[in-house]
Amino acid sequence: MQEAGADALELNAWFMPGDTNVTGEALEDHYLALLRELKTVVSIPVSMKLSPFFSSLPNFVQQAEQAGAAGVSLFNRFFQPDIDLASLTVVDRVQLSSSADVLLTMRWIAILRGRTSLTLAATGGVHKAEDALKMLLAGADVVHMASALLLNGPQALKVVLSEINEWMETHEYESVAQLKGSMSQQNLPNPSAFARAAYLNALDSFTPPVGVRY
Ligand SMILES: Cc1cc2nc3c(=O)[nH]c(=O)nc-3n(C[C@H](O)[C@H](O)[C@H](O)COP(=O)(O)O)c2cc1C
Repeated sequence: MQEAGADALELNAWFMPGDTNVTGEALEDHYLALLRELKTVVSIPVSMKLSPFFSSLPNFVQQAEQAGAAGVSLFNRFFQPDIDLASLTVVDRVQLSSSADVLLTMRWIAILRGRTSLTLAATGGVHKAEDALKMLLAGADVVHMASALLLNGPQALKVVLSEINEWMETHEYESVAQLKGSMSQQNLPNPSAFARAAYLNALDSFTPPVGVRY
């Protein structure tokens, strides 16, 4: 532990957001150095929780795999400072997720499934059984829930589990393994459904609410 502590001083360098001298590559190297260092002091599998802001997530995940990670957890949800308009101060407050947040993670899980042997954990926006099922179909090995438990208490897990079972029975799935990753990008007849081009189709299909005119 002592050896790690000595190195950790350097590894603990704090990067100020806004520092234009810090490159994306340097930040990625920093993550990987931390991972390698951690691997020298623990024997348990290490899963790395990533932010959604890597320029090339699949490349970084590959590097994490080579550096000894056992899994990645997508994505970390950083608290965003807010401005209080009454006091004109910058304030920190807990902002919980909603089911709408599932889509960001779900897409990346779907893209990564089959491209890495790391365990894929999905975190962000899982409130209902449908949210967890989407993550599993995309290819998640693990689904996390945080905001839903804070809002509804631990009993929310029971509800989600029983609704997952119900859905699986209705759709004749015998196990989670059977559905896991069945809708990953590589398993889709049209892999571009998870690509950026799909944005154009999505915009084309948008219908303004009744009474709204542009
Ligand atoms: C109050 C609170 C505290 C959290 N603390 C941590 C933390 O210390 N480390 C961490 O990696 N994520 C932390 N998270 C993020 C959660 O683990 C989770 O990744 C994130 O909230 C997204 O999942 P959710 O949509 O189910 O909330 C925290 C989330 C909340 C709401």
